[in-house]
Amino acid sequence: MVQIIPAILSISEADYDRDISRYRKSQSFQDGWIHIDFMDNVFVPNKSIDAAATAKYPTLLQKEAHIMVAHPKEWVDDLVEANFEKIIFHIEVEDDKNECIDYIKSKGVQVGLAINNSTSLKKLEPFLGRVDMILVMSVVPGFQGQPFIPESLERIREISRMRSQGNFSFKIGIDGAVKNTNVKEIASSGVDFITIGSYLLKGDIDQNLEELWEAINE
Ligand code: DX5
Ligand code: ZN
Repeated sequence: MVQIIPAILSISEADYDRDISRYRKSQSFQDGWIHIDFMDNVFVPNKSIDAAATAKYPTLLQKEAHIMVAHPKEWVDDLVEANFEKIIFHIEVEDDKNECIDYIKSKGVQVGLAINNSTSLKKLEPFLGRVDMILVMSVVPGFQGQPFIPESLERIREISRMRSQGNFSFKIGIDGAVKNTNVKEIASSGVDFITIGSYLLKGDIDQNLEELWEAINE
C-alpha cells in the first residue's frame, strides 16, 4: 500500500515549531516519516531554516531531508547530527553525485535522488542501482502550495518500468501539490510514497488525511 508522508517547508524557526507541533498533536502522525524541505536560495529561489534548527523541536517521527541545495555534501554532517535517517538531493546539481551518494551512505543514512520535471529521466540511469529512492517532483521546487504538473504521472510509470527492467529495488515517491482531487490517480500510478504539505496543513490534519484516504479508496 502507498505511504503518505507529511511535509514541512519552513522559512523561519517559528514556522517550523508551529508545523511540527501540529503534526505532533495530530492523531494520524504518531509514527512513520516526516519530510523536511531545505533550501539554500541558490539551487531554488527560497531559503529555509537549517538542519541544526530542526533538532531543537522534538518529533517522534523519523526525519527525511529533501535538500534543494547546490552543494548537497556540505549539508550531510549537520543533517546526520540532527538525526536525519534519509537524505534526498537533486540529480540536477553539478557536484559529483557518486561522491555525495557514497558520503551519505558512509553515515549509515538512506539516500535518494529527486528529479525536476524539466530533467530527462535518462540522467537517473547511472544511479538507479545505488540509491534507496527516487523522488519525482510534481511542482517546480521551492515553495508549498504550487500547481501540480500532470506529466509527473507518466514519469512515475516510466521510472517504474526502468526499475523492473533493471531489477532495481529503489522506492518511488512523488512530491508536490498532491490533494484529494489527484491523489487517487497518483496512488495508482505505481508510487510507493506520496509527500504532502499544504493539503494536510490547511485546517485539521487528521480530517485532511482521512479525506485523502477516502479519495484513494473510493
Ligand atoms: C516543494 C517541496 C515539497 C513541498 C510539498 O519545493 O519540496 O516537499 O513542501 O508541499 P505541497 O504539498 O504544498 O506541494
Ligand atoms: Zn520536498
